[in-house]
Amino acid sequence: MGRVDGKVAIITGGAGGIGDATARLLAEQGAKVIITDLNQDTGEALAAEIGAEFVAQDVTDQNLWKDIVAGAEAKHGALHILVNAAGIEGDMLNGAAENVSYDDWKRVHAINLDGTFLGCQAAMPAMRRAGGGSIINISSIIAFMASPNSAAYGSSKAGVRHLTMSVAHQGAKDKIRCNSVHPGLIDTRMLKDIHSETARKRNVSFEEAREISMARVPMGELGLPIDVAYLILYLASDESRYATGAPFSIDGGWNLN
Ligand SMILES: NC(=O)c1ccc[n+]([C@@H]2O[C@H](COP(=O)([O-])OP(=O)(O)OC[C@H]3O[C@@H](n4cnc5c(N)ncnc54)[C@H](O)[C@@H]3O)[C@@H](O)[C@H]2O)c1
Repeated sequence: MGRVDGKVAIITGGAGGIGDATARLLAEQGAKVIITDLNQDTGEALAAEIGAEFVAQDVTDQNLWKDIVAGAEAKHGALHILVNAAGIEGDMLNGAAENVSYDDWKRVHAINLDGTFLGCQAAMPAMRRAGGGSIINISSIIAFMASPNSAAYGSSKAGVRHLTMSVAHQGAKDKIRCNSVHPGLIDTRMLKDIHSETARKRNVSFEEAREISMARVPMGELGLPIDVAYLILYLASDESRYATGAPFSIDGGWNLN
């Protein structure tokens, strides 16, 4: 028996690092997985490899959300799990409140916060029809700590935290759970790009840039996408049936600083 046997799951950002690991793990544990992403080639290849479906999606498109949820219900009869993992970092090095352009601010919020909101809004009626469900919103450790250079990203991820509580509160009576996951430094495309940019700006090597950021983590190493995926699996499964509205950090102890 898989830990999410027979459950139907939509995973946004499924072509990315954390989304990919989550899609693989949920499929391995018995879920019917629908991967969505902007990145069609990678998403389709992953779906073919793990026996999932792929749907091209921009998470900021409200109408598409309705179609994707309706498609999941039409094909599989229900929707039980939504993992909102699509996200962008924006400018993390020169993104201070005083510097970030209004366009960048809006783009980061549109994808990270509005996209998550639209997903929750589209999924809740379907989960109610299914007799309950689990929404997992990927926020960040930055929701709880300020960084001068990532005003938009931090604000969007703090927004995801609050949205999660609100959705959880509304959904509780219908057994629709909603929890937020707060990764620290996870070794994906996103983090590699941040380290490359840090290296360029500080005139250090990529390896040195990695070392500088790892020094902030008490465990002294980066997390892997699969580390986050195991937490998401727990939250997606009935093992976590009494957990809702809660923030789950996974950061090698970074939050202890
Ligand atoms: N990697 C980290 O260290 C880290 C830390 C904290 C939080 N996070 C969060 O985890 C989530 C996954 O990030 P990741 O590290 O796997 O990065 P990633 O860049 O590998 O994956 C993100 C995915 O989102 C997709 N995406 C971007 N904009 C989209 C849109 N408008 N519509 C649909 N898909 C879109 C991208 O194509 C990509 O496949 C993000 O929300 C990110 O903010 C990551």
